[in-house]
Amino acid sequence: MVKESIDIPNEWETAAASLIRQETRTCLIIGKGGSGKTTLCKFLVQKLTEARKCAGYVDSDVGQSTFGPPATVGLKVFHRPETIYDQTVPTAIHFVGNTNPLGFLLQTLAAVKAMAEESYRQGAEITIVDTTGFIDGPVARVLKYHKMEMLQPQRIIALQAEDEIEHLLKGYEKTGGKILRLPCSARANNRSQAERRKYRQEKFKEYFKTAEKVTCSLDKLVFPSCIIGTGQKIIPGELPDDDCRSKLDKIYLEKCGTELLALSDYFNHSLPVERLKTFFGVSSIIHITRHELKNLLVGLSDKNNRTLGIGAIIDLDISKNQISFFTPVKNCDTLSVVHFGALKIEHDGRESEKLRVIRYI
Ligand SMILES: Nc1ncnc2c1ncn2[C@@H]1O[C@H](COP(=O)(O)OP(=O)(O)OP(=O)(O)O)[C@@H](O)[C@H]1O
Ligand SMILES: [Mg+2]
Repeated sequence: MVKESIDIPNEWETAAASLIRQETRTCLIIGKGGSGKTTLCKFLVQKLTEARKCAGYVDSDVGQSTFGPPATVGLKVFHRPETIYDQTVPTAIHFVGNTNPLGFLLQTLAAVKAMAEESYRQGAEITIVDTTGFIDGPVARVLKYHKMEMLQPQRIIALQAEDEIEHLLKGYEKTGGKILRLPCSARANNRSQAERRKYRQEKFKEYFKTAEKVTCSLDKLVFPSCIIGTGQKIIPGELPDDDCRSKLDKIYLEKCGTELLALSDYFNHSLPVERLKTFFGVSSIIHITRHELKNLLVGLSDKNNRTLGIGAIIDLDISKNQISFFTPVKNCDTLSVVHFGALKIEHDGRESEKLRVIRYI
């Protein structure tokens, strides 16, 4: 049974009964922030598991995560109803990189798809997908549309107090989407930005509580956000002249295709950008700094891009050819891919800064 008492509108009971009866494989829950999506998802999972259905819960709310840390899509597969409140250990997570899908639409979609597939691999007969309250504007429309294209849900449950997501639903109906409109509970209430931030901090803190320093050689790692380790290192003798050599002293340079990477301790305003572009025949120079990388949130994945966990960079030391992370991932032997996120995380779980470390100059 549910631990806290929730208000269950009659329509929610009917919806649960119809999901139990029908052969729905994927059910997407949408609604504005605070409309009760997560409460409804938990209720549905509980009802499904009580009816002896194995149910997967894909938590695609990267901001107010239920399963796994923020900035990831989490999955929990429930084989029995009594495990519904065991929120601490997700079955799997997939790194996105931000606590908001803006600027991370591809990563969000890929992560949702990966977790929905994992849900079925783990034996779920039905997968319930919880979403963010991001429903207004063109970016939200595009994201939600493609989420549906990827998941092909047999059922979309739209949670509305009035008609606030009708602008999305009309389009879905025209393309054959099966929508079930459910009312919000009168007890549904939206959290303030401060409450949301506090909740994220607690989730990060909980996640990092067993974290330690882990150091890895750069040789075996791939950084999809950046060319480090995939191109050719430029040595001083390959630079065009003495002026360049003196300006680029202590800066690591690597060329890959049409990109040149410049990695320095701090931002360097005197890089001879145009001269380097012309000389090396590249169209862009990516300038990243060791300083900005400190505490950057990263996703740590194996060679199949399965997320092993998340971490915060402690240091990228190119002279030692190594990178260190603060992470609860204990065994980094299978670590192969490092994804850069868009925020800094302190070791106590605080989000200290939003930033994009990849800077094109
Ligand atoms: N049926 C309900 N009975 C009791 N409380 C509810 C119910 N639905 C929602 N609430 C309350 O409203 C608040 C928001 O609910 P919930 O977190 O489920 O919404 P959400 O749509 O998932 O929000 P978000 O967009 O922030 O993820 C919570 O405090 C929750 O307990
Ligand atoms: Mg929610």
